[in-house]
Amino acid sequence: HTVKYAFGLEELERKLSGYLSVPKVIVVSGDSDELPVVKKELGRATVQQMKNRVSPGDVIAVAGGTTLASAADMMVPDAKWNNTIFVPARGGLGEKVEIQANTISSAMAMKAQASYRLLHVPDQLSEDTRRSLMQEPGVQEVLALLKSASLVVHGIGEAKTMAGRRTTSASLRSRLEEESAVAESFGYYVNQDGKVVHRENTVGLQWDELRPDQTVITVAGGSSKAKAIDAYMRYRPSSILITDEGAAKAILNQS
Ligand code: F6P
Repeated sequence: HTVKYAFGLEELERKLSGYLSVPKVIVVSGDSDELPVVKKELGRATVQQMKNRVSPGDVIAVAGGTTLASAADMMVPDAKWNNTIFVPARGGLGEKVEIQANTISSAMAMKAQASYRLLHVPDQLSEDTRRSLMQEPGVQEVLALLKSASLVVHGIGEAKTMAGRRTTSASLRSRLEEESAVAESFGYYVNQDGKVVHRENTVGLQWDELRPDQTVITVAGGSSKAKAIDAYMRYRPSSILITDEGAAKAILNQS
């Protein structure tokens, strides 16, 4: 039974990798919408994949969200983390402090016994303020580190959920609805075709700055995120998708 089951997950991984054109897909069993323990498994798998790819001294960029918070929970010390630096991928995006990138990357670093930097930039900045903040030496140091990151780890959210979780104005919410935004990551909102319909004005890693030599690990699960994962993954740079059976089956069934 176990072997058959494992084969089932492998098959899902293979199919999803083909369907989304992602080089590597990891599917953990269960649906994190139904069982919280599955989110822990997503976290465990994320740490494992990070460990497979990291070398001592590397810079690791980490985004926010509850899924990445569970990866931070699963982090343990290992020689692989020697001299690594954990850096938040973005400044604040109006989320609760427990799930902000700053909190998660520093928590991961502390558990890994590595070092970290913080990015102290508030959200919803005017373009002028954002530009002048980016001239600050402390901010510039973190931005330079982000550019040198060899690993980028991030989650994906449903557009509506994310707009609700953040301090999003009513006018932006209705614009996102009009534009049929389905997914969000890094402050970018995309529609079903993966087209960017809105971009939050924050400081941090930008997609167009990602290089092919960087490993991008995307982690998102739960059948409710199927559409969001599908939309986001088709056109975004990602080396590894870590998801769960609930999301994987829902993505493939609706394809
Ligand atoms: O807000 C940070 C963030 O990484 C978003 O970009 C993403 O949509 C979201 O968190 C995912 O959050 P969760 O793992 O809680 O669904």
